[in-house]
Amino acid sequence: MLKNKLILLGITGGIAAYKSAELARLLIKEGASVQVVMTKSAEAFITPLTMKTITGRPVFSSFFNPDEPGHFSATVHIDLAREPHIAVIAPATANILGKMAAGIADDLLSTVLMAVNTAECPIILAPSMNTSMLHNPAVRNNIAVLRGRGYIVADPQEGFLACGEVGEGRMIEPSGLLEIIKKKIRKAGDFSGLTVLITAGPTREALDPVRFLSNHSSGRMGYALARAAQERGAHVILVSGPTALETPPGVDFYPVVSAQDMYEVVMDKLSAADIVIKSAAVADYRPEKTSAQKIKKGGGEMTLKLVRNPDILKEIGKNKRNIFVVGFAAETENVLDNGKKKIVDKNLDMIVANDLTQEGAGFCAETNIVHLLYRDGREEKVPLMSKYELSHLILDRIREIKHS
Ligand code: PMT
Repeated sequence: MLKNKLILLGITGGIAAYKSAELARLLIKEGASVQVVMTKSAEAFITPLTMKTITGRPVFSSFFNPDEPGHFSATVHIDLAREPHIAVIAPATANILGKMAAGIADDLLSTVLMAVNTAECPIILAPSMNTSMLHNPAVRNNIAVLRGRGYIVADPQEGFLACGEVGEGRMIEPSGLLEIIKKKIRKAGDFSGLTVLITAGPTREALDPVRFLSNHSSGRMGYALARAAQERGAHVILVSGPTALETPPGVDFYPVVSAQDMYEVVMDKLSAADIVIKSAAVADYRPEKTSAQKIKKGGGEMTLKLVRNPDILKEIGKNKRNIFVVGFAAETENVLDNGKKKIVDKNLDMIVANDLTQEGAGFCAETNIVHLLYRDGREEKVPLMSKYELSHLILDRIREIKHS
């Protein structure tokens, strides 16, 4: 299944580098071509000659490769970043994870990774290190940052480590890594031809030119969904309230401010959509009046009158025709019952119910903990995972239901 696929195999300096030779062999057996880029310290663990012999391609470890004069190019890092279908960094040391998280490009491999367009070439990281290093807050934070940006992290395993200790930190076995690569390639393009309309972020309901009512949504959940759907070949329309996030590459982006703005854009784009995913945290109410001037404080109390905003999801449910509609439910109590009620009230195919009382779930975090509730009454408990991984799971389930 990997025929005609070019895999970029980045090898960094850890004892697990010997497993990369086996990974390269397995990939080639599956029909892939493998382009190795090694760091200088990786060469201390496994020789470029070994990797060149296995892959049949020149191995790069610096911008200037005296052994391969025919392959020298001042833009070698760009060439190496543009061609592959998928990149795998195995083993990924604490050093390369830190450099990627911080945006440092000080050698060929880190520069190539900086130049990879992850919308076209997903990057899989296979960390490998001593348990204490893995649990170091800086490393944990770097891994969380990278997951949040959409990198796939193949979690290290428990076992006997090179330092003689037993614990978490062993690089995933090459066969496990091969399965992750194959799964990722299988999914590439499974949403092509489909338009997915996604809403994200909060809405802001203006009181006056300087104040508004809003909520804690960062937009991370919706942007992760947009990135995942785009990677899988969908045409993505992202309608987003104000966030501090970068727009995922390749999506049609419509920034909005208020619930009324979001309602208008969503209704305008609805006829193009095959799938709607409403992860935005939309304000149910807005101030009855928006003052044209800054409201001055008076002597006593102030009462605000709020009026209902349109329920966008409910309107979509009423007009859904063949559109597959997924809602979100952000709850602090009776999570499942409230979620199930929304499926019926809003005529949904599926709802993603997050329990805001759980650590790592809901607003702002890079992770979420949810239940997926289906129209036919089924419910699926989903453990803590990154919003990006959850996005792929949601897309997997949509695909399964649409094809059942
Ligand atoms: O953005 P993040 O920081 O990553 O946080 C993610 C999240 C917590 C915002 C997300 O996971 C989430 O739960 N989004 C839905 C939040 C919400 O508004 O829930 P709700 O139960 O109030 O609304 C139910 C559904 O109706 C939602 O799909 C919502 O988009 C939709 N709705 C609600 C009100 C309204 N006027 N119009 C709507 O379309």
